[in-house]
Amino acid sequence: MYLEKIKLRNFRNYCSAEVVLSPRINILYGNNGQGKTNFLEAVSFLTLGSSFRTKRDEELPKHEENGFYLKGEFLDHEESLILEVGTDHNRILVKINGVVYKSKRSLFGRVRTVIFTPEDLQIIKGGPEKRREYLDLYLAQIYPDYRRHYRNFYRALFQRNSLLKRFREGVRDFRELEIWTERMVAEGSQVIALRLKALKEINPWVNRYHQLMSQEKETLSIYYKLAGESVPLLPVSAIQEKLETALQNRKNEEITRGYTLVGPHRDDLILLLNQEWEMRVYGSQGQQRTAALAMKLGMVDLIKRIHGVPPILLLDDVFSEFDNERKKELLRVLTESTQTIISTAEEHDFSNFKSELKSFRVENGVIYD
Ligand SMILES: Nc1ncnc2c1ncn2[C@@H]1O[C@H](COP(=O)(O)OP(=O)(O)OP(=O)(O)O)[C@@H](O)[C@H]1O
Ligand SMILES: [Mg+2]
Repeated sequence: MYLEKIKLRNFRNYCSAEVVLSPRINILYGNNGQGKTNFLEAVSFLTLGSSFRTKRDEELPKHEENGFYLKGEFLDHEESLILEVGTDHNRILVKINGVVYKSKRSLFGRVRTVIFTPEDLQIIKGGPEKRREYLDLYLAQIYPDYRRHYRNFYRALFQRNSLLKRFREGVRDFRELEIWTERMVAEGSQVIALRLKALKEINPWVNRYHQLMSQEKETLSIYYKLAGESVPLLPVSAIQEKLETALQNRKNEEITRGYTLVGPHRDDLILLLNQEWEMRVYGSQGQQRTAALAMKLGMVDLIKRIHGVPPILLLDDVFSEFDNERKKELLRVLTESTQTIISTAEEHDFSNFKSELKSFRVENGVIYD
């Protein structure tokens, strides 16, 4: 599935733009503040029903306008899919192949996209929640069950936390605690099982991308940290057991603190450079960016394998901080796979990739091919 044509009206600094894209590589270049990231934001909004930059949709209409409108025409072999979304005085309008839907949530996952932005450095450098967000966003797009288990887990967690808070106030109902613990463990272990399954699959790809971009000089491996302990791929029953034991061990602490200390909402990933050094601590800026990108590219492969259709890859400002070798390797990897839209503020030499590539100049909300 690729994006053949997109129309933007009153979106961010675009007044009206219509672009026909290449099914391969598309480069958007232009100075700072011209609308390159805004364009990627439009594509991601159409496919996720949300922006990767803001949760506040009211920021999206062009200044002084009351709404925006986006239309994307996607093609997959013979089949076409038309997604439309817009707002009018904060009222949302969604259409899929001409049929009206009530919520922008209906857009989610119709077309899969993987986006890489400078912020994604946080997957490596940031707190555990950034690594969990990385897993959650993609696994929800990849495994239909993930969203369900995740939602159920959070519901149980919420109940369990309210109960633990009451424990702290002296109202102690151990029977109810047991019920919510059981429910939380049942759903939480399914969430963890899918995370482990995904990691097992993407690990070799992620490592391969990292190696390619570092000219075979570095490796990257990902480990899952369940309740503080690095674990391999485990069956659900073993995960349940681990969660139960860890919860048992920290029961008193949970009651004192008044919230749940064990579960997929507290887990983390460990990323090792050359099998040994924690990337978060020892990686250079460029190595960390390479690692973050490799993790995103690994998701591209996983999506392709599970759904048979590659996702659209959006790369915001991906070239800054990469040396020339890393850039060249990256482009080579990309031409092999999927539709990619890349934004960059610098001029680059793309002469090796001429036939695969369409480039656009972005200037003050206008796109020139
Ligand atoms: N709602 C809006 N209405 C009008 N203009 C907006 C709106 N939101 C953002 N902008 C403008 O869009 C421009 C930023 O666009 P964008 O982030 O796409 O830049 P860019 O080309 O990616 O630049 P850089 O290379 O610095 O990342 C800014 O000039 C900003 O003021
Ligand atoms: Mg930008």
